[in-house]
Amino acid sequence: MRPARRTGAACLLVLGLAGPALAQDEGRKLFNGGVTPSCAICHTLKDAGAAGEIGPSLDELKPDAARVAKALRTGIGQMPAFPQLTDAQVQALARYIEQATR
Ligand code: HEC
Repeated sequence: MRPARRTGAACLLVLGLAGPALAQDEGRKLFNGGVTPSCAICHTLKDAGAAGEIGPSLDELKPDAARVAKALRTGIGQMPAFPQLTDAQVQALARYIEQATR
């Protein structure tokens, strides 16, 4: 038996449909302590008033939503994965960061 595959397709769909303004607010809140450990302690993101220096500056990296979602789901380097986030929360964060850095 093969394990069920998790694809990003459903996430991308949600991304296109989510209410932009609401998702922006939710994403910013999640970024700033809505989840533990807080993104803000490790990342700089001007829009969120965050100045963490452990991870890359997201203002400079300008990751698109898919890249953010992948980092949150699998972790990357020193950054832990965030299994406690729902798919909707991952998408809110991913979309927020993409838009805040464009
Ligand atoms: C404990 C510190 C820490 C926390 C907390 C943290 N990150 Fe990271 N993050 C890092 C580090 C370090 C990297 C660089 C990893 C590497 O490239 O080796 C990184 C990389 C990233 C990347 C780039 C991924 C890529 O493909 O290059 C994104 C996007 C990101 N983090 C978003 C977030 C978000 C959103 C949160 C909050 C839910 C978060 N991070 C929480 C440390 C952290």
